[in-house]
Amino acid sequence: MGALEIKENIHWVGAVDWNIRDFHGYSTYKGTTYNAFLAMDEKITLFDTVKKPFLQEMLHNIKQLTDPARIDYIVVNHVELDHSGCLPEMVELIKPAKIFCSPMGEKAIQSHFHPRGWPLEVVKSGDTLSLGKKTVHFLETRMLHWPDSMFSYIPADKLLISSDAFGQHWSTSERFNDEVDEAELLSHAAKYYANILMIFSPNVQKLLQTVREMKLDIDMIAPDHGLIWRKNPQQIIDAYARWSNAETREKAVVVYDTMWQSTAKMARAICQGLQREGVSFKVMDLKVNHRSDIITEILDAKGVLFGSPTLNNGMLPTMADVLTYLKGLRPKNKVGAAFGSFGWSGEAVKHITGFMEEMGIELVDPGIKIKNVPTHEDLQQCFELGVKVGRAIKG
Ligand code: FEO
Repeated sequence: MGALEIKENIHWVGAVDWNIRDFHGYSTYKGTTYNAFLAMDEKITLFDTVKKPFLQEMLHNIKQLTDPARIDYIVVNHVELDHSGCLPEMVELIKPAKIFCSPMGEKAIQSHFHPRGWPLEVVKSGDTLSLGKKTVHFLETRMLHWPDSMFSYIPADKLLISSDAFGQHWSTSERFNDEVDEAELLSHAAKYYANILMIFSPNVQKLLQTVREMKLDIDMIAPDHGLIWRKNPQQIIDAYARWSNAETREKAVVVYDTMWQSTAKMARAICQGLQREGVSFKVMDLKVNHRSDIITEILDAKGVLFGSPTLNNGMLPTMADVLTYLKGLRPKNKVGAAFGSFGWSGEAVKHITGFMEEMGIELVDPGIKIKNVPTHEDLQQCFELGVKVGRAIKG
């Protein structure tokens, strides 16, 4: 991908990673991008860099515009290595006059790169930087996605360079949201929020309030991953407001694993009960669904049901995996129940409900465990559980 002007004299110079398939346990099955931006002003300024293996790709893009040695400033909006992995090489190559970062960014740069003599300049919320014709306003955005994260806002262009926030892991030849399928884009943005930012929803709420109070005039949001929001950027701000407020709809996600199909049969009977109540549902067998896709479906679901047979006095490891991952993301505003078959001891349901209680999921039933293979009556009990959860979802 070559350099691309996104606003007058501001260019995308990042890299597209078509091949990445895992991002810390998140299935990036459609790749990602590492967006970096170059402002060609009196002070030529690079906003973020890219992951280390993509250094040459970024340099190739920069060279289409200028000699990299002419870059005056680097703004480090975020120190995570997908955006600053090649920062040491860039500092060595271009010898910038100044490197701007947040107070926490300075600490993160020190502990990641142990630099000597880098011209670091700490900026805080409200600080500004003149590039010549244009000015950059900084806004610290702690925990979106790390303590060091910050936004760079350029009022002259109504451009918000938003670091991780509002991003998506999706590699495309297109750079703008109005060039791709809108529904698919929003599904990638939702997956990104669910798996990376759900845990920080209180911070997102505060940030959105701050942005409202500042009355920032925004007509483009350029995140560090994925597509740039050129058409109606308010739509992704509105989506973040809904997601961070844990808004749900009448939907359940039934997650299970099974040994000999008994727990699978229970899951299907539960779904018939949900269907009776007119609740939308997704059935997700852990053998064929990635944990990060399950979390995405849970994002806007009011109901969650988890099923596992008992193995070695506990649940199947796939269920422990997804529950551990979900617990870390701190979901809110959910109701649900557990279920599963067993042979002789039957502890899985108890362990699953324990996880659900720790997550604050409202249990509408103590859970159902069924010995070996479910009878018609057992499946009727599962159906009734589906009805019960469905009614709780509908409130
Ligand atoms: Fe895309 Fe938190 O790094």
